[in-house]
Formats: sequence, C-alpha cells, structure tokens
Amino acid sequence: MVTTLIRGGTVVSATGRQSIDVLIDGATIAALIEPGAAPFGDGLAERVDNVVDATGKYVIPGGVDAHTHMQMPFGGTTASDTFETGTRAAALGGTTTIVDFAIQTPGEHVQDTLQAWHEKAAGNCAIDYGFHQIIGDVNTESLAAMGELIDEGVTSFKLFMAYPGVYYSTDGQILRAMQKCAEIGGLMMMHAENGIAIDELVAQHLGRGETGPYFHGVSRPWQLEEEATHRAIMLADVTGAPLYVVHVSAHQALEQIATARGAGGNVFAETCPQYLYLSLEEQLGAGGFEGAKWVCSTPLRARSEGHQDQLWRYIRTGDVAGVATDHCPFCMVGQKELGIGNFSKIPNGIGGVEHRMDLMFQGVVDGRISLERWVEVCATTPARMFGLYPRKGVISPGADADVVIYDPAGHTSIGVGKTHHMNMDHSAWEGFEIDGAVTAVWSRGKKVVEDRRYLGAKTDGRFVRRELSQNLI
Ligand code: URP
Ligand code: ZN
Ligand code: ZN
Repeated sequence: MVTTLIRGGTVVSATGRQSIDVLIDGATIAALIEPGAAPFGDGLAERVDNVVDATGKYVIPGGVDAHTHMQMPFGGTTASDTFETGTRAAALGGTTTIVDFAIQTPGEHVQDTLQAWHEKAAGNCAIDYGFHQIIGDVNTESLAAMGELIDEGVTSFKLFMAYPGVYYSTDGQILRAMQKCAEIGGLMMMHAENGIAIDELVAQHLGRGETGPYFHGVSRPWQLEEEATHRAIMLADVTGAPLYVVHVSAHQALEQIATARGAGGNVFAETCPQYLYLSLEEQLGAGGFEGAKWVCSTPLRARSEGHQDQLWRYIRTGDVAGVATDHCPFCMVGQKELGIGNFSKIPNGIGGVEHRMDLMFQGVVDGRISLERWVEVCATTPARMFGLYPRKGVISPGADADVVIYDPAGHTSIGVGKTHHMNMDHSAWEGFEIDGAVTAVWSRGKKVVEDRRYLGAKTDGRFVRRELSQNLI
C-alpha cells in the first residue's frame, strides 16, 4: 500500500483549522501528526513513499456533490456528460464523491431503473459515487421498492412537484411517499415548484409570442417556488418525513424553510452556485438565444429582487445546509437549440460539477462565508446529510483518503472557449475568475489530480452504499 505524508499545510474542517500533517496509508487517512513530532510509533515513518509539501495551502476533505445528473435522459435528449467525463471533471475541480439520481418514470419498475444506473456508472467513474432514487410513479409497488433500496445503500428519494406528465407527483402521491420515508428512515428530496400553475403560464407566454429563454424564468415566478416549498413542508409535517428541498433559488422559499427549521422540523435546503452568482436579467436575459445556456429549474432569479444576497446570508446562518451543483449539462448545438422558438423545449440544466469548490471558495475570498463554512457546505454536511460520514467529508483517521490541496494564492480562470473538462460546448461560468486553485486531489489514497493534470482512471470510482441520513434532529 502506498503511504503519503502531506506536510506543512493547514487542515480545514467544518469546525476549525489546524497546522497539522496528514498521513495517508493506502485508501484511508492513518493519522494527523503535529508538525515536528516524531511521527509514527509503529514504523510507518520508514515506509512513507511520498512526502508532499503543502506549505501555504489548505488541506481539505474532497468535495461531496450531492446532486448530479450524468447522462440523464431529459427534454428529448440526454445530459452530455457521461459518468466518465463528468466524474473526471469533478475530480479536476476537487470533488471526490458525487450522488447522482437513478430515475424511475411512469410504468417502470424502480429496481430495474436503479440497476440501469448501476450499469451506466460501474467501471466508468473517476471518483466514488452513490445514488438517490427518483420516484416518478408513486404506486404500491414503487413504495415497496423504496424500502428495499434502503438496504442497498440508496437512502434518499426525489419527487417532483414540477414537470407534469414527466416526473410530476400529485399531493396524494407525495403524501404516500413521505409516509413511506417516515416509516423506513429515508430522506425525502423535493423539487418544489408548482408545475401545474407553471404550465399554464408557459402556455400563456408562448401564446403571446414570448418564446425566448428569458420567459423560461418569467414563467416560473418565485411565488410558485415558495408555495410549493410551503406545501412540501406541511406534507412533511403531517407525515413526519425528513425533507430536503433541492436547488432552492428564491429567498422566499428559504424563508419558509428557515421558519420550519425554527419550529424544530427536519427540513433542509440545498442551493447551487448558479443561484448565488447568476441572474434572470444578466444570463437568461442575454441577447438572442444565448440565455438558453442558463435555462434550468428552479430558474435563475432576478438580481433586483435580492435573491443572491439573501441566499449567501442563509448559507451563513445555516438554513442552507449544503451547496450542490445540480450538474445537468447540455450542449448548445443539437441540445439547447431544440428550444429555438419555444423556450419550453430547451433541455433544463446547467453544468458546473468542475467549478463548485472554486466558486464557493470565491465566497470565502469575497467575505460571504468563512473558510470552515466552505468546507462544511461543500463536503461535511452533504456527507452527513446523505449517510456518507465519517468515510467522506472529513479529514480524520479512518476516513477515506479523499483529500484536496487548495492554494489560496492560486488563480483559476474559467476561460472563454473550452478550458473546462466537462463535455459541453460552452460553459455557464465562462469568464469567471477565481482567487484560488485546486492543486492536488487524492481519491481513496490515489493521487488523481496534480497541477490541473488528471492522473486517474475511469475505473477508480466505486459505488458507495450510503447509511441513513446522519443529519436529522
Ligand atoms: O434544470 C434542472 N434542474 N435540471 C435537472 C433536473 C432537476 O430538476 O434537477
Ligand atoms: Zn429538480
Ligand atoms: Zn437536479
């Protein structure tokens, strides 16, 4: 087994920072060693294979991105990153675990769909991965399958209050699935937008000839996110299910979540970098068909309404539990352009799995969040939320050696043109400049990234069976 000693860095955790050396032995972290201390009583010192100098740099747990959609069939096409290309890009950006979504659509057996996702991912992942299960057809059989999945390490289930006719669940179906979650200990993940009302607005805009990408955002107003979020919270309260609301973009929806949390509810929010930095006016409202790059749901919100600032505030206060990417990439050519002349046909999704750690570090540089909160929302809390802790999300003896060296004096340009590694013909983050850089990444003890070069293989990643959420009250 290869041993590596990372020396001279500052180890950052969710609770503090410490000048301490990190010893990796094989696939796990063996010890944290005071600098200068005689390191190992057990003879390990004589067999350290690699010593890495991390002076001036942060040593953090590898990122856990709890919301990705690799090769997801959606909107008449398939998300452009395969498990191979998407997880490689994730590794390059300092993320060492993803939790992707297996999808059951109406008429399908849940177990078959999970198996299909296993087949897509197995042997094709650069980093470790787990699955959530989307239940697109809540019925007696799929409810029974939810119980079986818990034993297979798939312990969270996503339902949709949006997308009628695709993944949509009625309130009755949501209630039944939540009752099941309460019974089996599963975490209910919710896409909270009132899809029935949205579809009416979409038809009205199209009827008026308002067909461009901007109207995607206008047809999904914050009120319909707030309303659905409130309804989901109430249904969770009735059933006793823990609730995790995904990709929250409206500050009013977050206020609902904060209120429920204040009342003691097991209610959690996730947001994504796109909702912190990008807006309805600037991106969705870009000229011509350009705005299609940023069509996603929930949509980007108006900067003039203050959502971005409020979302950062809720990250600081803890009412946003974690930051994931909702990585769901589509190329402009052949994919997004399906919606030229009809915004409702633009495949919904933004790619960003490669940039989350950097974009959130910029929040540290800009004084929006602390260094510790950066690690907490990007790694530790997602690991706890989704039953991966303490294997993932922490640098501690016994944990998987998923480690990132991050250089606060480095610089990352998300250049114009294809400087990224995601399988996309554009980047939603084109032109962003980050005051920091990932310099090295280990995945279960294997160095997979060094100085922006990928050293791993598509067979490095393994399926991780997850426990029940470790984050509930
Ligand atoms: O636009 C999005 N978010 N696409 C991915 C599917 C989903 O709802 O998460
Ligand atoms: Zn969603
Ligand atoms: Zn998603």
